[in-house]
Amino acid sequence: MKNYKTLLTSLFLLSAMIASVNAQSTAEKVKTNIIISTDLGTATISRHIYGHFSEHLGRCIYGGYWVGENATIPNTRGIRNDVVEALKKTQIPNLRWPGGCFADEYHWRDGIGPRDQRPKMINTHWGGVIEDNSFGTHEFLDLCEQLEAEPVICGNVGSGSVEEMSKWVEYINFDGVSPLADLRRSNGRDKAWNLKYWGVGNENWGCGGNMTAEFYADQYRRYATYTRNYGNNRLMKIAGGANSTDYNWTEVLMQKIPHWMMWGLSLHYYTTNWSNKGSATKFGEKEYFETLERCLNVEKAIDRHIAVMDKYDPSKRVALVVDEWGTWWDVEPGTNPGFLYQQNTMRDAMVAALSLNYFNERCERIKMANIAQTVNVLQSLILTDGEKMILTPTYHVFEMFKVHHDATMLPLHLNCGSYEMEGKELPTVSASASRDQDGKVNISIVNIDPVKAVEMIIDLRGDDFKDISGKILTTPALTAHNTFEKPEEVKPRAFNEAKVRKNMVTVTLPPASIIVLTVGH
Ligand code: AHR
Repeated sequence: MKNYKTLLTSLFLLSAMIASVNAQSTAEKVKTNIIISTDLGTATISRHIYGHFSEHLGRCIYGGYWVGENATIPNTRGIRNDVVEALKKTQIPNLRWPGGCFADEYHWRDGIGPRDQRPKMINTHWGGVIEDNSFGTHEFLDLCEQLEAEPVICGNVGSGSVEEMSKWVEYINFDGVSPLADLRRSNGRDKAWNLKYWGVGNENWGCGGNMTAEFYADQYRRYATYTRNYGNNRLMKIAGGANSTDYNWTEVLMQKIPHWMMWGLSLHYYTTNWSNKGSATKFGEKEYFETLERCLNVEKAIDRHIAVMDKYDPSKRVALVVDEWGTWWDVEPGTNPGFLYQQNTMRDAMVAALSLNYFNERCERIKMANIAQTVNVLQSLILTDGEKMILTPTYHVFEMFKVHHDATMLPLHLNCGSYEMEGKELPTVSASASRDQDGKVNISIVNIDPVKAVEMIIDLRGDDFKDISGKILTTPALTAHNTFEKPEEVKPRAFNEAKVRKNMVTVTLPPASIIVLTVGH
C-alpha cells in the first residue's frame, strides 16, 4: 500500500513537472527524460578511465613537461610546476609513456645516468629531431610522483628484446641486491618504484613491428613471461591491441593469449577522418556533425570489440584499455608537421564528454583509457608557449567529470530526440551517472545540438534529494577556443538553473552544452 502511494505521488509529481516545463518553455521542444536508478549499481567507474598518454613527440615532453633544472620557468627537478599543478586539479590518475610509436624504438638504458653522458638518437617517427634522452625513466617516474598519478610504461617489442624489457622491469621494481637494482641506486634512486601498469609494445600491427596478430600473440607470451613480479608488487600487463575496427586482432589475442597473462588488452581509435583531417579551429556545422558522428562510431566499434572479448572472457577478467583516443586534426599552420600540435575548441570538448560518458557506461569492461596526448600534441588538455600555459576546453571536461572517479556507475535510461543533418541523425543527448562515496549522485549530460535547447526531466528512482548544484561548459560558437592572448574564452561556470524536488530534476540544457549536476540529500 505504501509503495502504491509512493508510486502515485511520483507519477503525480512527474506529470505536474512535465506540464509545468511544457507551459513555461520558450525553448524549442524536445521531450527528453532520463531515468536513473540511484539505489542500484554495482560496477565501479575506475578513475583510470580518466588517464593520459604522453609521448616523446613534438613539444609534449620537451617544453610541455620538461624544461630542465636550470630553466627560468618555475620547475621542480626540471619539471614545470604550472603543468603539474594544473593536471593535479583534474586528479590525473595515470600517465602512459614513452609512446606511442616512439616506444618501440626506445632503449631505456639510453635514458638513465648522468644527463650529459646520455647518448643522442634520432626520433625517426616524429619530425626526425634529435632526442637527447634527458627525460628518461627517473624523470618520468619523478613526474608521476609529483602528479600523484600511476605510471604506465609501454615497453619495446618492435625493436627491443625480451632481455631488455625484462631488465627494465627489474631496474624499476626490484628492491633487493642485483646488478640492475644496484645500477638504479647508483643513479640516485634507492627504493623500487613498484610500478604496476606495463604495456607490452604499441601498435604492433603497424609502427610497432608490422606483425600479424598471431605472431604478436606469441611474442606477447614470451615478453610477458619475463616481465616479472618483484616483492608484493603485481605487474598489470597490457597487450598491444587493435587498430580501430580490426576485430580480428582482438579475436586472435583473446584466443591465443592465456587470460591470466594479461591484465588488459588495448585499443587505439582516434576520432578523425584520415583522408582529410581538417582544421582544428576553422570548421562549419557540417564538419561538427561529422566529427560527433565519428565519435559515436567509435562507441559502436568498442561494443563490437567488447562482444568479441565477452565471447572468450564472459566473466570480464581481461580489461579493455583504450590507451589512445581523441581528435586528430591538421597541425596548426606554420608548425612542424611531425609535431602534431593542434588547437582545441568546444568541438573537442564535446568529443571528450561523449567519449567519457560512453567509457563510464562500459566500466565493467573498460578499466583504463588514455587520451592522446595531454600537452601540446593532438587532443591536449594543456598548451604551452615558453613560460605561458593555457587550459583547453578538453581540460575543463576532465576537471568537471572527475566526480565520476571510482564512483559507482548507476543504471540510466535515456529518451531523447535527434540532432539531424542531411538525412542523418544522432542522439541529441548523452548522459552518464554515478554515486560517490558520500551518497551524492553526479550526472554528466551533453546536449550536442548547436541550435536547440533541450528541456529535460531526470527521474531519480530510489531516493529523494534536496540539494542540487552544477557546472556548465558552453560557448556561443563551436569554434571557440583559448589562446595565449585570450586564455579564458572557454571555461566552465556555475550552473544553478537545475531544480530538484524529491526525486525529480528539471533542467534546460542550452545548445551545445556540457553540464555536470551533483544531487545530494
Ligand atoms: O599519438 C600519436 C601516435 O598515434 C602514436 O604514437 C601511435 O601509437 C598512434 O598511431
